[in-house]
Amino acid sequence: MPKKALITGITGQDGGYLSEFLLNEGYEVHGIIRRNSSQEFYRLNELKIFNRVKLHEIELTEKYQLEDFLKKNSFDEIYNLAAQSFVGTSFSSPFYSLDVNTYAVLNMLECLRRYQPEAKFYQASTSEMFGKVQETPQNERTPFYPRSPYGVSKLASHWLCINYRESYDMFISSGILFNHESPYRGYEFVTKKISSTVARIKHGSSEKILLGNLNASRDWGYAGDYVKAMYLLLQKEKPTDIVIGTGKTISIREFVEKCFSFIDINIIWEGNGLDERGICSKTNKSLVEISKQFFRPAEVELLVADPRRAKSELNWEPKVNIDGLVSMMMEYDLRKEL
Ligand code: GDD
Repeated sequence: MPKKALITGITGQDGGYLSEFLLNEGYEVHGIIRRNSSQEFYRLNELKIFNRVKLHEIELTEKYQLEDFLKKNSFDEIYNLAAQSFVGTSFSSPFYSLDVNTYAVLNMLECLRRYQPEAKFYQASTSEMFGKVQETPQNERTPFYPRSPYGVSKLASHWLCINYRESYDMFISSGILFNHESPYRGYEFVTKKISSTVARIKHGSSEKILLGNLNASRDWGYAGDYVKAMYLLLQKEKPTDIVIGTGKTISIREFVEKCFSFIDINIIWEGNGLDERGICSKTNKSLVEISKQFFRPAEVELLVADPRRAKSELNWEPKVNIDGLVSMMMEYDLRKEL
């Protein structure tokens, strides 16, 4: 009998890569999708696995829907990737963000405690919980200081997971994942916004990239590498929480430079603050400008992982570095944005 896995958030970037990975491992893969909402199936289609996963329409915040489902269907492993995952939106929709990122997780934990206490549960925790970082690099012992409703919602669910693990002896593990990108990243996130616009500029578009804080730094890895860490975490003998990242960080400004350099444009920065511009060194054309609307009320300025425990306990290391990631995203977007 193949092992059965359930993935919430299966239509997202990580959901697609994790489904592909688990199918290759011989799993029967089920996914939860939202009812009455237009679904983004393009990732599952492009990965050619749409017909190989079994999809169930369930609203995770609806207590009885999830309960009915988990009473009738049992799983060996459950990966909870569903979230309102955009930090910016969490400032404008804090209640919704907590509903999806915290109360839905509690709903899941309660259902599992009552109907499937033996199932292994993976929670998608995040480096956003470190927020205003209390030490650098950040590891499993670094104190948390979230800076957005998103960060708070994820920290609350992180602690709920620890609490259920300790109270009820359930197998619950959280991966504290730093930023992870890919060609399938959503367009609202800064890397995809930059790579897709640079690709359109290469194809002749006259648009500029409008950005917020260029100085923020992130530890960016490749999502395809990170889903393997999720799986490895659930294969451990005992549940635990582990930081997953590359250990390297670059600023948004440097990410912009790398994407333009991929299409042989050298960017020179001029001006300060809201008047700063990124100019093409050959044509003098302004290609990057700053817009107030993309700044956040509170910012996370620097994230960089200390992933030593991932190496020693999971034998996990990222395979794709930042330049490999930029190439992968730019090559895909140059094809797609034609
Ligand atoms: N999205 C966006 N758009 N971000 C911008 C922009 C812009 O125009 N300009 C500057 N930034 C800055 C943000 O202020 C932030 O400091 C950084 O770029 C990265 O923003 P995002 O790509 O939106 O990602 P994030 O770091 O806030 O959150 C992502 O990573 C977390 C892990 O640390 C998301 O994937 C979260 O769901 C995840 O938990």
